[in-house]
Amino acid sequence: MITFRRFTKTFAAQPAVRDLSLEIAGGEAVALLGPNGSGKTTTLKAAAGLIRPTSGDVLIGEPGVTARDPRARRALSFLPQRVAFPESLTGREVIDFYRRLRGVEPAAADAALTLASLNGSSNRAISTYSGGMVQRLGLAVALLPSSPVMLLDEPTAALDPDGLCAFYSVIEHRKAAGQTILFTSHQLGDAERLADRFAILVEGTLAALLTARELGDRLASRGVLRLRIENAPADLFDRLRRLSPGATRAGDQWIVPGPAGSRPAVVDLVRESGASILGLTAEEGRLDVFYRDLVGGRS
Ligand SMILES: Nc1ncnc2c1ncn2[C@@H]1O[C@H](COP(=O)(O)OP(=O)(O)OP(=O)(O)O)[C@@H](O)[C@H]1O
Ligand SMILES: [Mg+2]
Repeated sequence: MITFRRFTKTFAAQPAVRDLSLEIAGGEAVALLGPNGSGKTTTLKAAAGLIRPTSGDVLIGEPGVTARDPRARRALSFLPQRVAFPESLTGREVIDFYRRLRGVEPAAADAALTLASLNGSSNRAISTYSGGMVQRLGLAVALLPSSPVMLLDEPTAALDPDGLCAFYSVIEHRKAAGQTILFTSHQLGDAERLADRFAILVEGTLAALLTARELGDRLASRGVLRLRIENAPADLFDRLRRLSPGATRAGDQWIVPGPAGSRPAVVDLVRESGASILGLTAEEGRLDVFYRDLVGGRS
């Protein structure tokens, strides 16, 4: 369990996170989404006990203890957005160090090395690793202990498709085992795959707290239908605009915004007019567009 109670953090009079209240239960994964600089890392660091709230509380466990309490530290795992390890150590030495520090059984080291995908290079110095390899090592270290609370700052940023699959499967197991997971991502795919709820921070404020279904609906309503149309009667575009006032056209390319449910009516209208549809693609809404709408208060 992670509890944010009116958590506020201000850096040099600039609020980074304002009045955040949020509870994340055991067995639940929450994705913290938001544009760059919206306060995601600040929120995670507060839960990891690395920064002190300017006001409000951040509690870990049940009953909750403040995130800076050593009992909270023992209960959690934290993956920082930027990991760094001593360059002269090997990947295996790093994993072994953290394994002993967290009191994890030796067998876990091999699983961690596999997740880090370092099997061939685990005995080489970290100074010789690629950026993605270092990030993956960080993720493997964070996932070493089966901590009741996991805080992961952009865990998938450096993962290739194989790494993603391995990561998703670890997280699904941890969730099923009752662990509490709070993670950030800029990838909608991760969030949709892993999260039960989505907390969207915009300019440090919790702008929306949505279930997976609610987010899906919001994004679908921001989708567009793209059509390539030939032989359109002169009045077709005006009639289409009555159905979808935001519709635009450039040559034979027509773009019709609107939710997925409105698309069949658009296609019917075009067909019944006698025009030919040469091509058709549908796109769901993007997170960046959704964030802009939240800032503009139009959600
Ligand atoms: N130590 C600090 N000192 C001063 N300002 C800070 C500090 N850490 C963060 N900030 C500011 O707080 C705001 C939120 O930063 P934060 O790192 O939490 O954003 P983020 O949502 O994680 O962004 P990103 O998606 O880029 O990782 C930013 O304006 C940032 O400049
Ligand atoms: Mg961040």
